[in-house]
Amino acid sequence: MSNILHACLYNTEADASDELQSQIKGLNFIRLVKEVATPDALAAILHECTINLIFFHLDPNPDAVVDVIDQVSTRYPALALIAISHLSGPDAILGPMRAGCDQFVCEPIDANDLATAVGRVASRRLLSNTKSRCICVTSASGGAGATSIACNLALEIGSVVERECALLDLDLQFGDVALNFDCEPRYNIFDLAESSGDLDRAILQSTMTSLPCKVSLLTRPELVEQQEAITPDLIHRVIELLTSTYENVVVDVPGHLDARTASAFGQADLILIVCQLIVPSIRNAKRFYEALKRMGVPEDRIQVVVNRGDGKSRLSEKDIEETVRKPVYSTVPNDYEFVARSIDFGKPIASLDQNNAVRSAIRKLARKIVTEASAATKEPVAEPRKGFLSRLLAK
Ligand SMILES: Nc1ncnc2c1ncn2[C@@H]1O[C@H](COP(=O)(O)OP(=O)(O)OP(=O)(O)O)[C@@H](O)[C@H]1O
Ligand SMILES: [Mg+2]
Repeated sequence: MSNILHACLYNTEADASDELQSQIKGLNFIRLVKEVATPDALAAILHECTINLIFFHLDPNPDAVVDVIDQVSTRYPALALIAISHLSGPDAILGPMRAGCDQFVCEPIDANDLATAVGRVASRRLLSNTKSRCICVTSASGGAGATSIACNLALEIGSVVERECALLDLDLQFGDVALNFDCEPRYNIFDLAESSGDLDRAILQSTMTSLPCKVSLLTRPELVEQQEAITPDLIHRVIELLTSTYENVVVDVPGHLDARTASAFGQADLILIVCQLIVPSIRNAKRFYEALKRMGVPEDRIQVVVNRGDGKSRLSEKDIEETVRKPVYSTVPNDYEFVARSIDFGKPIASLDQNNAVRSAIRKLARKIVTEASAATKEPVAEPRKGFLSRLLAK
């Protein structure tokens, strides 16, 4: 990572611009990429450039700016955000902090205060390595919807974080991840089996199929019998390389435990067991959950997602929670006609209808995963060594 932090200033008070810019430009290691005054201009700069840090000037209308902070922090959880205002009462500070700001600096700006605030966010968010996450999606019973959720979840995660999300199809015989995107990848995981010992990131990357929707695919072997070449060791190495290359990796894992699926589950940061509101599915969800725990997977890494929940079933989320003894992580509604159309045409749900309830639920799930993961990486924060980064940052 470069030592220079790319910053943006959000400021709607024209008279304050010169002072704010001169303070920010007075910090070492900060490059002020642009000052913007509207949410649209901010969205455009975040879309076009790599920005690590945003300074939000709250005056003269703090409520409106807090709304913008709220949206930015939800959409870009990895960004560092600093609020600046001449107001310094508890309410003035609490609003932006609740909306997602990391630091608050009072005006008139003291150069050391500003350097300390930047130093804190830099040490917490920017100088720590971004941790990648591997999300395994599996089904508690055949046809529960794991593949549909894995494909659309990868797309939504890619869109939420605005970076490619890798999607690996481990249904090695009959996987249909490529079909869901109507594509015929040139290479697949079987090509990696052939390079075995030499397998590295460069080879892996040349095997991936990059799609315009910010999903990068690694699909199953072309011929059914080629699945035999895909060993647990290969799966382990492939996931290791994927997580060192992509920030988010979604894996569609068939709903059973064997050496190959265990190799994937063992590397997962999150396992989503997709379950329907029918007795066999709920029972299997519990058996799966217990088996994964016996395998040594920490229970907070295993979550149950209800698919095709329509409120009309005899059973409800409550029955799952009582059986599995775990709150349901997320529920995706039932819309067979729509999901089947999406699969048949090879068009992800979001490209057919952005407002469809199935799409909204999967997008919400993507946001939850991304937000929780970024909160988790924030948790074990060591306080910055006093004065160290401030000294580095202040001229
Ligand atoms: N939310 C939903 N609403 C309605 N139908 C759905 C939904 N999700 C998936 N389906 C339908 O369920 C069927 C099975 O879905 P999918 O292939 O995703 O399940 P799976 O768990 O991967 O199955 P398998 O066990 O064969 O791998 C598909 O025909 C799909 O159209
Ligand atoms: Mg499947």
